Amino acid sequence: MSARRPFVAANWKMNKTIEETEAFLGDFLPRVAGVEGTEIVICPPYLALKSVVETCVQSRVEVAAQNMHQEAEGAFTGEVSAPMLRELGVGWVVLGHSERRTYFCETDDALAEKLPAALDAGLGPILCVGETESQREAGATEDVLRRQVEIDLAAVPDERLSDVVIAYEPVWAIGTGRTATAEQAEQAIGFIRALVASRSAEAAAAIRVVYGGSVKPDNARELLERDEIDGGLVGGASLDPEGFAAIVAAAGP
Ligand code: PGA
Repeated sequence: MSARRPFVAANWKMNKTIEETEAFLGDFLPRVAGVEGTEIVICPPYLALKSVVETCVQSRVEVAAQNMHQEAEGAFTGEVSAPMLRELGVGWVVLGHSERRTYFCETDDALAEKLPAALDAGLGPILCVGETESQREAGATEDVLRRQVEIDLAAVPDERLSDVVIAYEPVWAIGTGRTATAEQAEQAIGFIRALVASRSAEAAAAIRVVYGGSVKPDNARELLERDEIDGGLVGGASLDPEGFAAIVAAAGP
């Protein structure tokens, strides 16, 4: 682990009702009450945000939304804005998850507007980037990462880059049980950090770049103990309080 503060987030996707969320937190919060240093974030569906914020207020656990619109308000039926999330006490927002890019037409151009909008409103963006299996097989991984990182962060000023968390999530590893090896993850994350360094060496040293894609309690330590890997974005394995607490523990010293 580096001097950067470890960051571990639970991406619940479209899982858990408010009732199920409360049951999770009742079990999970005592398990992580003694954790120091590691930043822990839960990303529930929108409708559970308020109750998670209220339940976690006395804990060190922070809360993220899974998406937002780039405009603060307006005629965008079905959307939610950054100021609305801030009003609830939400601190973070996941942007550019591959499921949103694939199923909901999320584009890099929209992300280029969402990143500064989130920061301006006081939200920390968790920006997801990563290549598909065919892109990796075609040797295009670095081209894909370069394009995503360059476009998505283009409108973020250099001095704010380190307020972003980047999640390297190879699409072929998400929900498949096929975790990237620690070497593959470290290599891609090193490349992402070098892209940030081409804009600001200071930001590159400070920005957290985490890994996501089939992180489980039994592979978390091997991944998270690597110097380059500053934490994890965890999907399926974060739905279980005991398992997610074990992953949080693996990110610590
Ligand atoms: P997974 O999902 O851990 O279920 O692979 C990770 C993610 O999509 O963020």
